Parts: sequence; C-alpha cells; structure tokens
Amino acid sequence: MNKSLNLRVNGVQPVKLATFKDLPDGNLFIAEAAKQIPFEIKRVYFINSLANPKAVRGKHAHRKLEQVLFCISGSLLLHLDDGENKQRVKLNDPSMGIWLRPLVWHVMSSFSYDSIILVLANEWFDEGDYIRDYAEFLRLARS
Ligand code: TYD
Repeated sequence: MNKSLNLRVNGVQPVKLATFKDLPDGNLFIAEAAKQIPFEIKRVYFINSLANPKAVRGKHAHRKLEQVLFCISGSLLLHLDDGENKQRVKLNDPSMGIWLRPLVWHVMSSFSYDSIILVLANEWFDEGDYIRDYAEFLRLARS
C-alpha cells in the first residue's frame, strides 16, 4: 500500500507517518496529534496474537468516533464500506495508516501470524458509539 492508493470509499483517507529508516538497526515511525494524525489522540489500543488465519475483527462502524488504523507488523486485509462503495485494502506498511471517519463499516481479516493492529482514536471507549448491526449501518449511512 502507498499514498497513491486510490481509496474509493467515502470517509476514508490514507495517513503517512514520519519515518526514519535505520536498518539494520531498526525503523522509527512517528505519529503526532494534529500533525500526521488528523485529530487530538485520546485513546490508543492495539491487537496482537492474531495467529488464527481465519480471525475476523471489526464488523462495525462508529457514529462519531474517528480513528487511524495501522498494521505495524505483518499484514492484514481491511474491508471498507461506506454503504455505497466497498473496497479491500492490504495493509503491510507500518508507516501507512487509514483514517476512518464516522459511518465507515470496517472489517479486518487475513492476518499474517505476526500481525499487530495499532489504533489511535479521538475519543474514549463508548459502546454506545458502535453500530454493530449492518442493516442499521446501511440505514444511517444512506440517510
Ligand atoms: P471491538 O472494538 O469490537 O474489537 P474489534 O473491532 O477489534 O474486533 O472490541 C472488542 C471488545 O473490547 C468489546 O467488548 C469492547 C472492548 N473494548 C473496550 O472495552 N475498550 C476499547 O477501547 C476497545 C477498542 C474495545
């Protein structure tokens, strides 16, 4: 994936982290609020141990929450859906994130054994902000 990636789903944009490549002594990636990340960060969470190749995560959209999602190790498939347009994006570059604004149905699958998802969010956790029912999502996205 790269910045020229043609994202066709509404409410979705690529985010590129500042990167210092120091191989073989490591790579450094930097995410600063209101700079590379398009909002003030209020919550960070990450998901590891995705060794089950059939694992599926996500399957929801948010009413107000904004997030930037990274695959900082390994690879995964991110399925994006705005209620009209659908697209699958392979994430395998730690410096490339996807900014998910409200009302984007997203699903993650096809994880490599070593994949790690990192998410930066603009609000604290609120289950009430989740839309977990796809029919409800379609109603809201299309209204
Ligand atoms: P969920 O967001 O549904 O996971 P994913 O989209 O990655 O599949 O969250 C799974 C569970 O974890 C759910 O019960 C809510 C809880 N959770 C929190 O308590 N706080 C959080 O910040 C997050 C992201 C999830």
